[in-house]
Amino acid sequence: MSKVTIMDHPLIIHKISLIRDKKTGSKEFRELVKEIAMLMCYEATRDLPLKEIEIETPICSTKTKVVSGKTLALIPILRAGLGMVDGMLSLIPSAKVGHIGLYRDPETFKAVKYFCKLPKDIEKRDIIVLDPMLATGSSAISAITFLKEEGCAGSIKLMCLCAAPEGVKAMQEAHPDVDIFVGALDEKLNDHKYIVPGLGDAGDRIFGTK
Ligand code: URA
Repeated sequence: MSKVTIMDHPLIIHKISLIRDKKTGSKEFRELVKEIAMLMCYEATRDLPLKEIEIETPICSTKTKVVSGKTLALIPILRAGLGMVDGMLSLIPSAKVGHIGLYRDPETFKAVKYFCKLPKDIEKRDIIVLDPMLATGSSAISAITFLKEEGCAGSIKLMCLCAAPEGVKAMQEAHPDVDIFVGALDEKLNDHKYIVPGLGDAGDRIFGTK
C-alpha cells in the first residue's frame, strides 16, 4: 500500500488556512499556492538520490554531495495543477514539465482527457503529478493510469494541497505504488463532490474565473 504523508509543518498549515478563506483573492491565492507547493516539494523530494563529487572550496579540495541525475518530471493536471508548477520549479529548476488536461464530467464526475504533452523521455523519469484537490480521485487516477500506459517506469508521486478521505482511498486502491503527499486531509466530499471544508474550486480561485 502506498504511503500517505500529511504535512505537519506550521507554515504549510498556516498557508492552507489562508487559501481556505473565501475572502482571499486570486492574486494572494496564487502566491500562497506557489509557496505551499514549494514547501511541499521539500518533503516530496526527501528521497532524491545523492552522488559524491569533488570540488575546490576557496580553502581546499573536498568531497561533497549533489543530487544525482536530473531525471524528474512534473506533471500538472490542467488547469488547477498549473498553480503548483512555479513553486516546484523554484526548488527543482531542472525538472521537465508535462501537461495532462482533464475535466470532470459534471454528470458522471468521471475525468475526461482533452490534452496531453509529455517530455519525450518521460518513461525514464521519476514523476510528481500535481493536482491541488484530491476529491474523488478520478482525475489523478486517470492521469496516472495514462502515464503508466505511456510506459512510465520510474517512481510516480502525487502531490495535492487538499484531499478528501474518499480520494485518498480511491487512489491507494487504483495505484498502490504511488505515494501521496497531502497538504491537508479534510473531512469528506459533499453531494457535488467538492471537498468539505476544502477551499472551493481551485482552478477558479487561481485564475479568477468565478
Ligand atoms: N476540485 C476543486 O477544485 N475543488 C474541490 O473541492 C473538488 C474538486
